[in-house]
Amino acid sequence: MQDKLNLMIPGPTPVPENVLSSMSRHPIGHRSKDFQKIVQETTSQLKWLHQTTADVLTITGSGTAAMEAGIINTLSKGDKVICGDNGKFGERWVKVARAYGLEVIVVKAEWGQPLDPNKFKTILEDDINKTIKAVIITHSETSTGVINDLKAINNEVKKHSEAIIIADCVTSLGASNIQMDEWGIDVIASGSQKGYMIPPGLSFVAMSEKAWEANQQSNLPKFYLDLKQYLKTVNQNSNPFTPAINLYFALEASLTMMQKEGLNNIFARHARHQKATQEGVKAMGLKLFAEQSFGSPAITAVEPENVDAENIRKAMKSDFDILLAGGQDHLKGKIFRIGHLGFVNDRDIISVISALESTLDKMGKLNAPIGQGLAKTISVLNEE
Ligand SMILES: Cc1ncc(COP(=O)(O)O)c(C=O)c1O
Repeated sequence: MQDKLNLMIPGPTPVPENVLSSMSRHPIGHRSKDFQKIVQETTSQLKWLHQTTADVLTITGSGTAAMEAGIINTLSKGDKVICGDNGKFGERWVKVARAYGLEVIVVKAEWGQPLDPNKFKTILEDDINKTIKAVIITHSETSTGVINDLKAINNEVKKHSEAIIIADCVTSLGASNIQMDEWGIDVIASGSQKGYMIPPGLSFVAMSEKAWEANQQSNLPKFYLDLKQYLKTVNQNSNPFTPAINLYFALEASLTMMQKEGLNNIFARHARHQKATQEGVKAMGLKLFAEQSFGSPAITAVEPENVDAENIRKAMKSDFDILLAGGQDHLKGKIFRIGHLGFVNDRDIISVISALESTLDKMGKLNAPIGQGLAKTISVLNEE
């Protein structure tokens, strides 16, 4: 049905009406006082979201721009780095690092498994001459629905090395409690179309003092993504280039909504929806692709047996106007992924679980009494 589509993919995520309407006006000049006020306000709101006192820089570009900026602003040609790789976005880190001539040690885990902090520990312990300059990981691996233990990996980095840690928090920021300053995370990259609840087009990089020190030595080529320019201009409440002005209107509106809800309430909502989804899926006889204990609060990947996951996805869209994400690469047809990131409420979770049960029933593939999944989801949602 036209205009009824419910995005339950891990990005772009649904956008609240007031955020949408904040964008429906003429752009204002990006050197005007009014725009400066918005940059000032959103910069302070972004610090709150990142739990940091460092400046958070806003780039017009997608999440990958922020990832790339994190690398090219802290590292130099030939630097040795460790990249964690347990999915599509871990792979992307390896590709970006290699594209800039870095020497990459890849720490792998099977897709669907989390990265093992001990593997990082061993490599860092063996690096007696401290040649490793950065440890680079994806926090929430969107392709598999796995959350990597950023805090534990960072602890190993801090214990055994002087390397900086760079984290892709594209689908964990605003869903999971990431304490940038408290934990000592050096670079956090994120993107607007995820927990921020605004359309794609802006991305964000937060850098610690240690990362800015590394920036002094960094000789990788950069121009549009030269963060020194962004730092200089953010201190004047401005931006080095013409930014996506209307997306800044949206950013201010969405961060204001988030502040009203409160960080702990936002994390609790995501954890509750994650559990209600996981339990509902299991209760209808489906298998979780990633074990529940290391599931991402943003996304649940499901591995149905004896049925093409793409057929489930197609039916969910055509019969219920619910868009789920499919499997990527070798997982295409094997898994589907339910996004519960950002502007999601209990109604969305109840709808997706009941629509899934109905879809499987219609296909003759429901392996549990009809209603069992929904009953479980409701009981999780009604838990105190
Ligand atoms: C974990 C993760 N990292 C990076 C990206 C890349 O972001 P973009 O597509 O905005 O460049 C995504 C997008 O889905 C993601 O989920």
